Amino acid sequence: MAASTITRAVIPAAGAGTRLLPATKVVPKELMPLIDRPVIQWAVEEAIASGVNDLLIVTSRGKSLIADHFDRHEELEHLLERRQKERELEAVRSVGEGARFHYTRQAEPLGLGHAVLQGAAHIGHHPFGVLLPDDVMVGSQPVLGQLAAHLQPGVCVVAAIPVPRAEASRYGIASGRMQDGVMQVEHLVEKPPPGKVTTDPAWAVMGRYVLDGGIFDVLAGLPPGAGGEIQLTDALAERAREGRLLAVAFEGRRYDVGDQLGYVKAVVRAALDRPDLAPAVSRYLRDLMESDRW
Ligand code: G1P
Repeated sequence: MAASTITRAVIPAAGAGTRLLPATKVVPKELMPLIDRPVIQWAVEEAIASGVNDLLIVTSRGKSLIADHFDRHEELEHLLERRQKERELEAVRSVGEGARFHYTRQAEPLGLGHAVLQGAAHIGHHPFGVLLPDDVMVGSQPVLGQLAAHLQPGVCVVAAIPVPRAEASRYGIASGRMQDGVMQVEHLVEKPPPGKVTTDPAWAVMGRYVLDGGIFDVLAGLPPGAGGEIQLTDALAERAREGRLLAVAFEGRRYDVGDQLGYVKAVVRAALDRPDLAPAVSRYLRDLMESDRW
C-alpha cells in the first residue's frame, strides 16, 4: 500500500455520460465495463490501494445500480458456490472489499464543484481524495496515493499531465514551474478558450485531487463558472492564489473512458495489462494491422 494520509474520498458519479449515448441511456456510464470490471470499480480499487477506507459516491437519478454493484449479492454467491465457480465467486465477493460505502445524491446537475460540495457533511474538516471515475488511471503505484504523499496541512494537490496546447481548452490548466515532478501552481483556469494558453505543452489537471476540508467553504461561496456550473477548478484557483496548491506529474497513464476513443484505448490497454489476455490480444492486434481480414 502507498504511503497515505487520507482515509476518505468522494467519487462524483452524477454526470449524464452524453458522449457514450445511447449506451448510457439506461446503464450509468460509471458501470460501463473495462473487460470484467465496471469503470467505477477501477477508481474504487485505486482509492483502497491508496489507503482510503471510507468512500462517498455522489449519484443522481437513474444511478442506483451503482450502489447495487457495491452491495453483497448473496443469491449470486450461493449460485456460484453450488456450481463451484471459485474464481468468479472470489471476483464477486471482493468487489469493494476494504471500504465502507456511503451515497448521497446531487439533485441538480450544477457542476463538479457542486457535486463535491455534497460531501461536506460526511467529510467534515478532514483532508480527502476526489476521484473522477471517467479518468481511469493505470500506474505502478495508485495515483491517488502518489498525490497523498505530497499532502501538507491546508494544501491541495492535483494530478497533472502535459497536453498539447491545442487540447488545453478541454481541461483545467495549471501554470507555474514544474520541478522534479511537483509544481507550486500560480494560476489555474478551467477550460481556457483556444488561444489563451501560451505554453506548449500545457499542464492539464486530471481527475485526481487531494483536498483540505476547508475547500467546502470556498465551494459554498462560488458563483457559477465555465459552462454556468460550479467548478471545482475555481475553488482550487483560489488555493493557487494563496500559494496552497500543488500539481503533481504522476507516474502512470490516464484514459478518458467518457469519450469513445478513450474508451476503446482503455479496453485495449487493460487487456494488454492482463497476463491471461495479453498474448492473444497482441497477436490479434498484429494480425489486424497486417491484413484487413478478420
Ligand atoms: C473535469 C475538470 C477539469 C479536468 C477534467 C479531467 O472536467 O473540471 O478541470 O481537467 O475533469 O478529466 P470534465 O471532464 O468533467 O468536463
